[in-house]
Amino acid sequence: MTATSADPDPTKPFVVLGVGGGVAAYKACEVLRGLTESGHEVRVVPTEAALNFVGAATFEALSGHPVHAGVFADVPEVPHVRLGRRADLVLVVPATADLLAKAAHGQADDLLTATLLTTRAPVALFPAMHTEMWEHPATQANVELLRSRGCVVPDPASGRLTGPDTGKGRLADPAEIVDLARLLLAVPDALRPDLTGLKIVISAGGTREALDPVRYLGNRSSGKQGYALARVAAARGAQVTLVAAHTQSLPDPAGVQLRHAGSAAELRAVMHEVSGEADIVVMAAAVADFRPTNRADYKIKKTDHDPAPVELTRNPDILTELVAARKPGQFIVGFAAETGDSRADVLGHARAKLRRKGVDLLVVNAVGDGIAFEVENNSGWLLRADGTEITIPLGAKSALAATLWDTVLLARQS
Ligand SMILES: Cc1cc2nc3c(=O)[nH]c(=O)nc-3n(C[C@H](O)[C@H](O)[C@H](O)COP(=O)(O)O)c2cc1C
Repeated sequence: MTATSADPDPTKPFVVLGVGGGVAAYKACEVLRGLTESGHEVRVVPTEAALNFVGAATFEALSGHPVHAGVFADVPEVPHVRLGRRADLVLVVPATADLLAKAAHGQADDLLTATLLTTRAPVALFPAMHTEMWEHPATQANVELLRSRGCVVPDPASGRLTGPDTGKGRLADPAEIVDLARLLLAVPDALRPDLTGLKIVISAGGTREALDPVRYLGNRSSGKQGYALARVAAARGAQVTLVAAHTQSLPDPAGVQLRHAGSAAELRAVMHEVSGEADIVVMAAAVADFRPTNRADYKIKKTDHDPAPVELTRNPDILTELVAARKPGQFIVGFAAETGDSRADVLGHARAKLRRKGVDLLVVNAVGDGIAFEVENNSGWLLRADGTEITIPLGAKSALAATLWDTVLLARQS
């Protein structure tokens, strides 16, 4: 085959974005935007049914390339083979029940299904449909078949469906899909289903300790690292409960049980409630060490004289309590946000914390302005109880999450 103007820029990752015929097809436009804006070359391949929901013109304008559903356009370029061969990743957003069935059974009656057969790149299908369709044994069997062949098929989210009804079957948030796509491009086997059957509890975000009905003592944790851990674990097959403290700006991860907690006391209560049966517990939330001893029932008024100092009371150490209460075989991961000081550097403090806390694994982040908190990337070290130390270079928080789960699985075996 000769090169044509439609050939992708070889310096950019090449993503085929398949679009199925469901109401959520409009969200594929957001995924397309997210991918092109972060430097990916994207070709959109809708099905005929998808074009009832979003016109080809929208996909063409957003991707900058012609869009066809069938295999008989641009025949000299043999697109049904060419696209799949060239792809670094094939995404399907949304994957309808019909498309999952076709993909599972190897049908190839349009450009998207043909591409799914010709590609040897990672394939990720993000389902969206009504709960009844998702739960039907036929759909479940198709999903299992696709997963057994190496396709990534994360469970859909729960929430508002088409019309007034709610339930499981909502498309994962586009930002989550883009994040998982980037992870698959960086580490093609990062979402293999090796956490299937494991119950995992993760805390995320930062607690707030009320001074009065308006003000609080808080911290800068955004919850992004904990959410990335939950998203990657769920995509790898785990049954995940995420205990979230003040993470409202983040999309709910698909396929994850979400619980909310505001203060350290609330987070403590929820963690004790949900951790008992867990195989793995990860305390990624930034929990306040102290709370105001007295919480005013009214807004503290501005006065002419200096305010009284705020008296603080120590909060219970939730991680230490979880380690003390752990069931046999339960694996516990702590997080340490450290800065160096005159006594020790970041790693020195972290090694001492690993011994003191009795956790199986400690994730260590050096923190400071613009590092670790709120930003998209993270770096650090994983310290295992047996003394093994792994350095994590700066990268996406989901890449750190993937390495963490690899390390947890290895450590549980030894
Ligand atoms: C308004 C409307 C909304 C639909 N939404 C969905 C959906 O969200 N998920 C799904 O699996 N099917 C949905 N369907 C049914 C699909 O469009 C139908 O099964 C179609 O054949 C799927 O085509 P595809 O294989 O190209 O995706 C919907 C149909 C209509 C008319």
